[in-house]
Amino acid sequence: MSEAEELLFPRRKERMEDRRKEGQQRKLLDEFFDHSTLMVISRLVSRGHIGTIDYPIATGKEGGVFRTTGPEGFRAVKIYRVGNTMFRRLPPYVLEQLRREASLGNFGRLISAWVRREHTILGRLHDAHVRVPDPFVHLRNVLVMEFIGTDGVAAPILQQMAVGEPDALRDELAVQIRRMIADAHLVHGDLSPYNVLLHEGQPVLIDVAQAIPSDHPQAPALFARDCQNFGKYLRKMGAETSPDDFLERCGGPILPKEE
Ligand SMILES: Nc1ncnc2c1ncn2[C@@H]1O[C@H](COP(=O)(O)OP(=O)(O)O)[C@@H](O)[C@H]1O
Ligand SMILES: [Mg+2]
Repeated sequence: MSEAEELLFPRRKERMEDRRKEGQQRKLLDEFFDHSTLMVISRLVSRGHIGTIDYPIATGKEGGVFRTTGPEGFRAVKIYRVGNTMFRRLPPYVLEQLRREASLGNFGRLISAWVRREHTILGRLHDAHVRVPDPFVHLRNVLVMEFIGTDGVAAPILQQMAVGEPDALRDELAVQIRRMIADAHLVHGDLSPYNVLLHEGQPVLIDVAQAIPSDHPQAPALFARDCQNFGKYLRKMGAETSPDDFLERCGGPILPKEE
């Protein structure tokens, strides 16, 4: 728009911007809510698990997480894109686990198995009192879980924030990771400041579908990597720790079972 136009029509630029945003929003919705996903959503609505889809909390290439309001209040809905390329980036040991749970080849069934897996693992962690969103229900490519946030505003991921009390965070995270391995017998495998929310000053672990049992041959290496990476991050945030110190705090290396 020229300067003269801007002077003559001061609201026009705003309206154009509004329209552009609207277009983007519509594109986003079209991409997520293909026909079969809409059917899934409508079944979840009619069964009372969710209500309106309010807004996207986060979206990426492989899916998105939305806030919904339903009869029970806010919930988080994670929607995987059907026919996506997510499985290409999964490490072989995760694909092997998944292959045992579903027949490969059919994307739809594979995604269902993946979502079921995320639901099961969240449930196991929740039962072991690890701070994770409580899973409610899953259907095809959609997972409904507890909304982590305050007054309807989603909790931020650690990556997005300055950590106020890094030593307290270090101790609390170590408690969660210890519980995960000692009580739920699971190793997260993708632990990073992107997959930890900070809610009411406490860490909440998310994105757990790729977790593996602690007696898996790959578990010791993944556990060490998860803890050491986090140790590095905590030290950067000002906590008194180091990669090896944080691994120790989380229970130390996983040792092979004695015969
Ligand atoms: N239960 C939840 N409550 C609030 N926000 C959530 C919840 N689960 C996920 N999120 C948000 O959605 C984002 C993506 O979720 P995540 O499970 O990490 O999916 P992805 O596989 O795309 O990484 C997170 O970074 C977080 O901001
Ligand atoms: Mg994630």
